[in-house]
Amino acid sequence: MALSIQPLHPQFVGEVSGVDLTRPLGRDEVAAIEAGMDRYAVLVFHDQRLADEQQMAFTRNFGEIENARGGNVTRAGQHRLPQGMNDVSNLGRDNQPLARDDRRRLFNLGNQLWHSDSSFRAIPAKYSLLSCRLPATVGGNTEFADMRAAYDALDARTKEQVADLICEHSLMYSRGSLGFTDLTDEEKALFRPVRQSLVRVHPVSGRASLYLSSHIGTIVGWPRPEAMAFIRDLVEHATQPGFVHVHRWRQWDLVMWDNRQTMHRVRRFDESQPRDMRRTTVAGDAPTAEQIAA
Ligand code: OGA
Ligand code: MN
Repeated sequence: MALSIQPLHPQFVGEVSGVDLTRPLGRDEVAAIEAGMDRYAVLVFHDQRLADEQQMAFTRNFGEIENARGGNVTRAGQHRLPQGMNDVSNLGRDNQPLARDDRRRLFNLGNQLWHSDSSFRAIPAKYSLLSCRLPATVGGNTEFADMRAAYDALDARTKEQVADLICEHSLMYSRGSLGFTDLTDEEKALFRPVRQSLVRVHPVSGRASLYLSSHIGTIVGWPRPEAMAFIRDLVEHATQPGFVHVHRWRQWDLVMWDNRQTMHRVRRFDESQPRDMRRTTVAGDAPTAEQIAA
């Protein structure tokens, strides 16, 4: 059966069938998936029994795998997965749920806030690919918001207001907003804020989108409370039900999204039970704004 994509959400989520991601793909298949990403921004694949190596091989069809360094508080020797895989499970090396007060768990709770992956990096991520190896027993849906639709729906005055704004993003801001502040000096240096444009234009479709994320901690040149009140208002606007798609995970689903055009968050789940989710990330190719010299 040939690869085909059916809309799940008319604006921005497609469901892909007729492709086996465990095998090397043909050029036409890669091109069809890329075209689907440009058109929709989120693609859902079912029944993909991927091993880590196969997930990484599929990911490399779309660019280089992003280096995970500087994206979490997991220390050398604590990694459960091979290099190139982002562990977004609630599990330790022993495959058991992390203890309630484990720093890695508390840090990962930040994924429950609306965000775009790696917006805290000077060159932020292009795509993320999340494979469900074991779904949560209760809760744990992942929600996606279409940031192009959110931009389009802004009134003319707000569009003008956001046009040239630059935000500062850092993991310290998203984690700080949950009260997670116990960071080592090394982590603070690693999580130094970066600058991102608030409006992005997609290189293929030419569509504008709001580049929002819980990693935002201020707008350059604005008083901080004014910036944060404005950003909150934009996030509320951008995550109205009409712009949001809820994904309910089945084992072996793979969901792929464009971080340049969407935000996402995971909903709370029963953390006494394993939820094994593994992400690969395609690196972006350019910064969205000029950085300040270190
Ligand atoms: C991610 C993420 C959400 C989830 O992998 O980037 O935010 O559902 N995960 O685990
Ligand atoms: Mn994420």
